[in-house]
Amino acid sequence: MANHRIAYLPGDGIGPEVLAAARLVLDSVGFDAEYVPGDIGWRFWCEEGDPFPQRTIDLLHEVDAALFGAITSKPAKEAEAELAPALRGKGLAYRSPIVRMRQLFDLYVCLRPCKAYPGNPLNYREEIDLVVFRENTEDLYAGVELRPVPPELSDLLGKVAKPFAPFRELAPDQYAVSCKINTRQGSERIVRAAFEFARRNGRKKVTAVHKANVVRATDGLFLEVAREVAAEYPEIAFEHANIDAMCMWLLKNPLQYDVLVAPNLYGDIISDLCAQMVGGLGFGCSGNIGDELGVFEPTHGSAPKYAGQRKVNPIASILAAKMMLEWLGEGERAARIERGVARVIAEGRVRTYDMGGTATTDEMAEAVARAAH
Ligand code: NAI
Ligand code: MG
Repeated sequence: MANHRIAYLPGDGIGPEVLAAARLVLDSVGFDAEYVPGDIGWRFWCEEGDPFPQRTIDLLHEVDAALFGAITSKPAKEAEAELAPALRGKGLAYRSPIVRMRQLFDLYVCLRPCKAYPGNPLNYREEIDLVVFRENTEDLYAGVELRPVPPELSDLLGKVAKPFAPFRELAPDQYAVSCKINTRQGSERIVRAAFEFARRNGRKKVTAVHKANVVRATDGLFLEVAREVAAEYPEIAFEHANIDAMCMWLLKNPLQYDVLVAPNLYGDIISDLCAQMVGGLGFGCSGNIGDELGVFEPTHGSAPKYAGQRKVNPIASILAAKMMLEWLGEGERAARIERGVARVIAEGRVRTYDMGGTATTDEMAEAVARAAH
């Protein structure tokens, strides 16, 4: 019996290539796991009308963690047109598997470490070492959206709104509402996750990102809760900043930040900003983590134009695998993988096209595997 059971979800496009690369590196450090392949992605939408079939959901209930590659998604019209003829016109709607996964398994932490490995020609600045905790289940992504706006709600909003709110003059089908819903519990658990991480990893500071001076109700609640949680961790400094200012400060002084925590939308924005500062899509990795399950993935998509060419950078997936090991309590093996990545980048001999080199996906994975000792 292997020590761990891992769902292996390669998906579409370059997903299978980059996950195979991560697998090679996991094997090289002796990670003892049974990988159970799971169906996910465009093919299953076309053939079955569901890109995330129930059997894959069942599989995720049985495993310790999952590795996820990438999937293709397309706008509603194209999605309908590519359905198998027997499934068309039945009102099937494409839903993002990753969003469903976050909801079904309450994967409330989106963890995005962004570290500038020395010698990466894509580093915006050397020594950047940021960790973003993005709330993953609520906020503006709660999925409560209305278009057209039902008359009852339109009436209510008209009463609540200030006199100069322009929508008050409009018919309910002339505007749309997306609800930003933030709960005390949801805010508390993401902020606590950030502080617990900081404590465990010897991090010095947590910065909460918000817009509480304008978005007073929801972001006000988030900031209030963040302050309460921060008071329980006196050894860790606490700061907070507005999302817009944060984007400027991150570019100006990225070394002044450490752990960042934010509600869903702002977290989404700063995650991509931070990832770009340490190499972009070939390096961005994330963990979608709940109390029962962690799903680890590169943040890039299926990059269809490169599918099958085996030239994209697998480092994002290799670092996602490293995060998975940390989450599973395999810290020593995780550290070996990270050292392998750092060595290969520092030596600069093996570089994929995005880093200005000509190495293939497999050559990069093999180099990291050799260096991960
Ligand atoms: P993408 O991330 O797939 O690729 C955009 C470009 O980034 C690529 O053409 C390539 O130049 C570069 N790139 C991506 N991964 C790279 C890697 N590992 N190494 C080097 N360069 C890399 O985004 P795009 O083209 O907007 O979307 C393609 C498909 O992926 C769409 O169907 C989209 O819906 C889906 N997607 C899926 C995601 C996921 O599975 N989590 C996330 C983002 C997009
Ligand atoms: Mg994103």
